[in-house]
Parts: sequence; structure tokens; C-alpha cells
Amino acid sequence: MIGGSSGIGRDVAAVLGEEGCDVAVTYRNTVQGAEDAAAAVRGHGRRAWVASLDLSAADTAARDARTVVSSVGNVDIVVVCAGHNVVTPYRQITTDQWDQVVNANLTGTFFALQSMIPAIRPGGSIVTVASAAAHTGAPHHMHYAAAKAGLVNLTRSLARELAPQIRVNCLAPGITLTPMGRNTIASLPDDYAQTSLLLQRYATSRRVAQMIAVIASPVSEYMTGATIDVNSGRHLR
Ligand SMILES: NC(=O)c1ccc[n+]([C@@H]2O[C@H](COP(=O)([O-])OP(=O)(O)OC[C@H]3O[C@@H](n4cnc5c(N)ncnc54)[C@H](OP(=O)(O)O)[C@@H]3O)[C@@H](O)[C@H]2O)c1
Repeated sequence: MIGGSSGIGRDVAAVLGEEGCDVAVTYRNTVQGAEDAAAAVRGHGRRAWVASLDLSAADTAARDARTVVSSVGNVDIVVVCAGHNVVTPYRQITTDQWDQVVNANLTGTFFALQSMIPAIRPGGSIVTVASAAAHTGAPHHMHYAAAKAGLVNLTRSLARELAPQIRVNCLAPGITLTPMGRNTIASLPDDYAQTSLLLQRYATSRRVAQMIAVIASPVSEYMTGATIDVNSGRHLR
């Protein structure tokens, strides 16, 4: 569970524990969040590990992912839920900020997966987490939208290369009630959910986490290369 220390990823760890999985939970800064997620997994009688995995640069992502695999051994599911967003008008995006956002959402993700894929058992699956912004574009965070669009395509390319042994799918959430989502909501009109979302409400992270668990599980055995929209009909395609 890459990025299991907060928000959606933390709930994915708990849901996978409920479903009978042992889970390795990774964090970048929020150690306590990862410890809490691991405690939730253990509360379901499963084993849990906590490890640091920093996607901020390709080499650290690859190194940290190798360390996780060496502690945990072979795995059936890898979920990459880590993501980083900074709301900034395009004129103010610096090269450092561009690199931070693209590395965390795309480049680091690729190199972490490159290190982990040899440990995924045949029949296993990978789930990446993009965003509705991958399809729509996003003013004031175009580095994030561009990186998430890249992640959708990376998912398809990996699905082609890893078939038939490993399935690779993506979930693209709309605004979800997590620290990142609340930051987005703060920049929107108060009536945004009622006026712009077909279901007139924001997603809970637990509901999104449950969808990720379904995509990862054998229930979705005939699906690979797909991106599933969970966005209250904000964007229909
Ligand atoms: N919430 C939304 O409205 C929304 C909408 C669309 C898509 N998404 C996507 O859904 C996923 C989960 O987001 P969330 O809302 O749950 O966000 P969140 O609560 O802010 O959690 C983000 C997670 O990503 C980790 N992370 C951030 N930068 C990292 C880096 N450089 N290296 C490794 N880990 C890093 C964080 O770790 P630490 O806290 O330990 O640093 C944390 O575990 C993300 O991919 C996000 O882009 C969210």
C-alpha cells in the first residue's frame, strides 16, 4: 500500500485488512498515520508492516520499494495511492514545484513499481490512483493534471506489458473528503457539490477505498488496462 498514511490510502489498508490481506503500509512524512493504518490491519487479525517510501525522486522511489519487497517478500496486490498536489496558477509554477508534483504522481510511481513488479505473484494486480483531472485538465494545478494523465497512460502500458500474469488498472476519483480533497474544496464555491456533481456530494475516502479493493481483487479478474471513474458524474466519458 504505497501512500497508506493518510486519506484514501489509509482506508485502503484497513479495507484490505478486513478482506483478509496482510498489508505493508508506506509513508513519506506521516509516520503516525501509517502506524494507525497498520494497527487497523492488525485489528483484523492480519500482519502489517510500516515502511518509509519516498516517491519524490526516481532513485529513492526505486530504493525504498526494493527495501519494502525485501522485508515483505512476494505480494499479490500493489496499490499506489500516494499523490501530491499544489494549487498554483500556471504563471507561478516553478521548475522545482513541477518536478515535485510530477515525480510524486508519475516518475516516482513508475520507478517504485519497476522495483516491485518482480515480487508480484502471477495472478496478482496493481491499482494506481489518478484523478478526474487526468481527463478534464485542471486550472491552477496543471502539473498535477498532466502527471495524472500520464499515470492513466502508464497504467495502460504496464497492463499491456505485464499481461497475462498481472492485471494493472487505475481508479480516477473525484473530490474526496481527505486532507488533499479538503484543500481543493476550500478553493471552490460553497455550493459546488450541489451544483456540479450529479450525486450532489463529495466522496468519502472509505467508499473510494472499497472500490480500489474491488478493482484489486479477483472479482475484477477480467479487467486490465482500465481507468474507473468514481467522481459523482462530474466528468462523463
Ligand atoms: N482527495 C481528493 O479529492 C482526490 C481527488 C482526486 C485524486 N486523488 C488522488 O487520490 C490519492 C490519495 O489522495 P488523498 O486524498 O488520500 O491524499 P492525502 O490524504 O493528502 O494523502 C496523500 C498520501 O500520499 C503520500 N505522499 C505524498 N507525497 C508523497 C511522496 N512524494 N512520496 C511518497 N508518498 C507521498 C502521503 O504520505 P505522507 O502523508 O506520509 O507524506 C499520503 O500517504 C492521490 O493519488 C491523489 O492524487 C485525491
